[in-house]
Amino acid sequence: MEKIAVLDFGGQYAHLIANRIRRLGVYSEIVSSDIAASRLATYKGIILSGSPFSVLDKQSPEFDSGLLDLKLPVLGLCYGHQLLATKLGGAVCKGEKREYGRAMISLSAKSPLLDGLQGTEQVWMSHGDAVEKIPEGFVTIASTQDCTHAAVADHSRNFYGLQFHPEVTDSINGMKILSNFIDICGCKRDWNSNTFFEEIAGTIRSICGDRKVFLLVSGGVDSSVAFTLLNKALGSSKVLGLHIDNGLMRQGESSAVIEYMRENGFDNLKVIDASGDFLKALEGVTDPEKKRTIIGNMFLTAKEKAFEEFGLNADEWILAQGTIYPDTIESAGTKHADLIKTHHNRVDLILELIRLGRVIEPLSQLYKDEVRELGEKLGLPGKLVWRHPFPGPGLGVRVLCSDGKEELIPAEVSSCLQKLAESKNYSASVLPVRCVGVQGDERSYAHPALITGKCDWKILEDISTNITNSIRSVNRVVYGIKTGKSLQYRLISAFITRERLEKLRAADYIVTEQLYKSGEYGLVWQMPVVLLPLVNEAGDECIVLRPIVSQEAMTARFTPLRKDTLDAIVERASSIKGIGDIFYDITHKPPATIEWE
Ligand code: XMP
Repeated sequence: MEKIAVLDFGGQYAHLIANRIRRLGVYSEIVSSDIAASRLATYKGIILSGSPFSVLDKQSPEFDSGLLDLKLPVLGLCYGHQLLATKLGGAVCKGEKREYGRAMISLSAKSPLLDGLQGTEQVWMSHGDAVEKIPEGFVTIASTQDCTHAAVADHSRNFYGLQFHPEVTDSINGMKILSNFIDICGCKRDWNSNTFFEEIAGTIRSICGDRKVFLLVSGGVDSSVAFTLLNKALGSSKVLGLHIDNGLMRQGESSAVIEYMRENGFDNLKVIDASGDFLKALEGVTDPEKKRTIIGNMFLTAKEKAFEEFGLNADEWILAQGTIYPDTIESAGTKHADLIKTHHNRVDLILELIRLGRVIEPLSQLYKDEVRELGEKLGLPGKLVWRHPFPGPGLGVRVLCSDGKEELIPAEVSSCLQKLAESKNYSASVLPVRCVGVQGDERSYAHPALITGKCDWKILEDISTNITNSIRSVNRVVYGIKTGKSLQYRLISAFITRERLEKLRAADYIVTEQLYKSGEYGLVWQMPVVLLPLVNEAGDECIVLRPIVSQEAMTARFTPLRKDTLDAIVERASSIKGIGDIFYDITHKPPATIEWE
């Protein structure tokens, strides 16, 4: 099979590149950036990914220069573009301005890579450094206002470099560029979802051999697809599913999962209630990473208890997980990636089992869109396949916790923020909590800003981008949908308790119900509802609504809901005892993440 290699320098989008190439009908594999050039000779083309490193750092990852002599087309993206330029005698400098988000490129020379594009095109940028001198033999084929060498080419050797990310959906014609590169490589487009299923099923059979497979089934899209896939590949007698009610599920979730699986003839799914153990282990914990670790470990403890209860011999079973690609990359699961967050299925105990060859993850190369496609192919019902994604640690990462000790927010941060908001006739303040974000391939743990004023989504989007681009200690912006006059919020000591979970569960249920009612459920990709350890003047806790649209969760855009839907949500959620002010998250990813933790 003809294939294209993606050399992984640790960029957040490295696997997205492979996903996109596969979507264009050509098999693509991620390989380590230090692979020997001789092992690349069987490929038809090479793509160099982005990276959290700077080529100006001493320790930055490189590639084997021999690959430049293979006479294969090479496409460098972001860091890959800068590295290619450096290796060939060009020069890179620290950019004066960091460029994140959308930018417009203007095409300046003809090139097969940009065939079919307009004179100006929207692309997605995420970089600090920039190429300042292109190598001999290269020409610049497109520029932006802030980046002269946004696209470069050496047509005689088929070497190309792009400062932007064509693999991200915000690069409107990014797929066309990647498709042009496939043509430059001369690949046949013979990869599709059937070959995909056959290949995965074959891999599962060869990894498992005689062993039986055990899978935790939360009922979300990934674990349901993984469970069905394992059943089809191995037969139900070699597969056992376990649904653990961990107390962090949505309202009615556990019973819905069990009912669905039973109705569809899966008699190899068992259920246990371990909510008491999970909540006890989470008592008094505030740190998001600790919470994820505890939840991840508790799943294994609960699994061991269940094995004992069912009289199963652990040595005969290997663990399967429905891990999909973003879980791995954000847990720094590839060589050069920065840790954004440790997903619950990447805790140390699991990593140890992976090292021992006792874990199988059939979906680990895939993104959500590919998992859904596979789910449909396997005959899962639309309602399940198109369900909003729900994180493994569930409401555990949506009930934010705190020891109540407020951090001092520097006066210059507040005044800078107020100036930015006031210039558009809005008021602003920094909220005394912290949340996770991702900026330029790195994790941030910073404060959200609250702005209040007219509900004009376009202006709100501009202010939000402006604030997060200008103030480094603010990685998220929320809009006050329902606030009191004073805008005074007090951080309280608050942990994961049944009472707080119930409060959030009730609000989350209302949101889902209203989205279905208004017909917006399918338009929104995911809508976390988050409970903050912040109280208003009346002493009631605040919640955040976080509707986003995305294709694969690596990037996301906040999305406005219809006014009548929002009014109904606010009215109903306000009647829940103990819920006070309501905020609306108006930050894209990056710089924020979808979840708050
Ligand atoms: P973030 O917050 O990183 O989320 O932008 C990206 C997607 O991943 C989901 N998510 C998780 N899923 N275990 C999971 O299985 C986790 O620990 C976890 N954290 C985030 C999130 O809901 C979103 O769809």
